[in-house]
Amino acid sequence: MTRVLALANQKGGVGKTTTAINLSAALARRGHSVLLIDMDPQANATGGLGVRAPASGSTYDLLLEEAPLESLVVPTEWEGLWVVPSTADLAGAEVELAASMAREYRLRRALKEDIERYRFIVIDSPPSLGLLTINSLVAAQDVIVPVQCEYLALEGLGQFTSTLELVRRHLNRELRLRGLLLTMYDRRTSLSKQVAEEVRRHFSNTFRTVIPRSVRLSEAPSHGLPINVYDPRSPASEAYDAMAEEVLEAVVAPAEVAT
Ligand SMILES: Nc1ncnc2c1ncn2[C@@H]1O[C@H](COP(=O)(O)OP(=O)(O)O)[C@@H](O)[C@H]1O
Ligand SMILES: [Mg+2]
Repeated sequence: MTRVLALANQKGGVGKTTTAINLSAALARRGHSVLLIDMDPQANATGGLGVRAPASGSTYDLLLEEAPLESLVVPTEWEGLWVVPSTADLAGAEVELAASMAREYRLRRALKEDIERYRFIVIDSPPSLGLLTINSLVAAQDVIVPVQCEYLALEGLGQFTSTLELVRRHLNRELRLRGLLLTMYDRRTSLSKQVAEEVRRHFSNTFRTVIPRSVRLSEAPSHGLPINVYDPRSPASEAYDAMAEEVLEAVVAPAEVAT
């Protein structure tokens, strides 16, 4: 059984891509096969794993050319971790999809076949509530929402949860808000602490794990490496490991966690 997890939040710079990369890498490290699908035209998840889209195609082709999933999957350097890369072309997909049939279901349909070999599919979304993000939410069973521990952290979350409710009502009943993830937590500031408390007060399903602010984490993508390779002993690497553990607890049968 494949589990499809989407990272989403219409705010940019909150840690969606960083989480997509490092959660995927942490799950793969634990022996699960993981496919990361890059749904952002900025292609930061693709680049952050040291991958470039080959001429054979990208997420654009998955959404608009009905290319089969397997023809677009690119291996990474790490066992158990694959990517469907994105390119800047995907920016045009938002407009082209608007006039297409079944425009909200393109990704979901693309994931109908050939996914059994992945235990997890992790989808990185762009910073908007446009059709690319809607496609991610319609294809997923769980959505994880990174929230930066900064002033106005909760701003926009109301609009996000309303969108989620609409998607659930009209397009994908299965979708669950699996949790909010506090990112860029700075334990030296009282602001981080306040924000974390406020988020937890509003959303009881916030991950226990908090991702610390970490220079190492921001450096890793420029080397094309996940944090568990770039600096495996860093607190940030340990945090993504702990988060992966929570994801496993939440979505996987207990028997499977034990093995
Ligand atoms: N925990 C963190 N500590 C320090 N920098 C971070 C952290 N998480 C993300 N960043 C950096 O912040 C920027 C935005 O993060 P990113 O994951 O790209 O956000 P999004 O995908 O939501 O736009 C990137 O430069 C990234 O390297
Ligand atoms: Mg991003």
